Amino acid sequence: MTAAASSSVETVRIGNADFPRRRLISGTPPLERLANLSGRDGRAPILVKRDDLTGLGLGGNKVRKLEFYTGQALAQGCDTLIITGAVQSNYVRVTAAAACAAGLDCHIQLEDRVAGMDAGYRTGGNVLLDRLYGATLHHLPAEATEADADAGLDAIADDLRAKGRRPYVIHLGAAFEPRGALGYILAAREILDQIAQAGVRVTQVVTASGSGQTHSGLLTGLRLAGSTLPVTGVCVRRDAVQQHARITQICGNLGRLIGRPDLVGPDDVIVTDRFLGPGYGKNSPETWGAFLAAARREGLLLDPVYTSKSFAGGLAMADDPDAMAGGAVLYLHTGGLPALFAYEAAIDEALAAAGPQPEPER
Ligand SMILES: Cc1ncc(COP(=O)(O)O)c(C=O)c1O
Repeated sequence: MTAAASSSVETVRIGNADFPRRRLISGTPPLERLANLSGRDGRAPILVKRDDLTGLGLGGNKVRKLEFYTGQALAQGCDTLIITGAVQSNYVRVTAAAACAAGLDCHIQLEDRVAGMDAGYRTGGNVLLDRLYGATLHHLPAEATEADADAGLDAIADDLRAKGRRPYVIHLGAAFEPRGALGYILAAREILDQIAQAGVRVTQVVTASGSGQTHSGLLTGLRLAGSTLPVTGVCVRRDAVQQHARITQICGNLGRLIGRPDLVGPDDVIVTDRFLGPGYGKNSPETWGAFLAAARREGLLLDPVYTSKSFAGGLAMADDPDAMAGGAVLYLHTGGLPALFAYEAAIDEALAAAGPQPEPER
């Protein structure tokens, strides 16, 4: 590690262990109450934690995770970050941004996971930013499995090592060390402080649940801070049975990583696949409705892959008086907004189906 790189790494104690962190977040993303979608027709208040505003590379939840991967890469003297993701992956885009900020190279493997997409999907939105950040792009065919994606990362790393480079691989599979989730353990503390400052009684937390690091980190962080708030993960890629097993496994690994394996058990893991719709990267009329309602009733932009689904889950939660027990829902906005510019055709279709009325949901 060069002197400049090492001076940018700090050590953070989480649970019973210390971790290197390279700061990448700008400030503290705000907690905002939705003025128009809250409280109407018996709906509970909705607070949005604006993690779409984490700053680096157009922000999102990945910035918090990259602080810990980049911190470890620098601490180990690595010179290149390697990551895999869907063609329009936000993780990949923020990794490319973090590499630039930290003075590292970046190799990206793009997985062709969403069928039937147009040229704008392949070159616009996040892909444009990956290229702008100077990352080297690799491609994985549509039929590849999650195991193939992991093997592909290792092959890229082996090739770089053979050329004398020092690659750092960011693996997202549930069996790997969930280092990125440390960012959401810290975020949980931040959120509890913001809730206390706002003086609002929150009774439910809702987030998207994909690779699972955000969900697992948030849940573990709340328990570590002594909070019993329930966290519902809205499935965006896998069904509820698969996702429950995945989050339980990641929470186990995360608990061991921080030396607190006692914090989260399977009964504490809540997931719903009610909003998964036709599958990853595709929306149902209900999730498009949530996407349009956020834009047209609040001016709040969501993305068409993750937060369209998780926000539909947040609205449904706020509409369930039994679950809310007179409190407010905290919805975690995880970002993803560059994908808006790669899903133009799908958004056009949703707009045509919704018609001109300003309020497709209610
Ligand atoms: C915008 C956005 N929201 C939510 C998620 C899901 O987060 P996680 O992978 O931590 O479950 C992702 C992950 O790719 C994302 O890009």
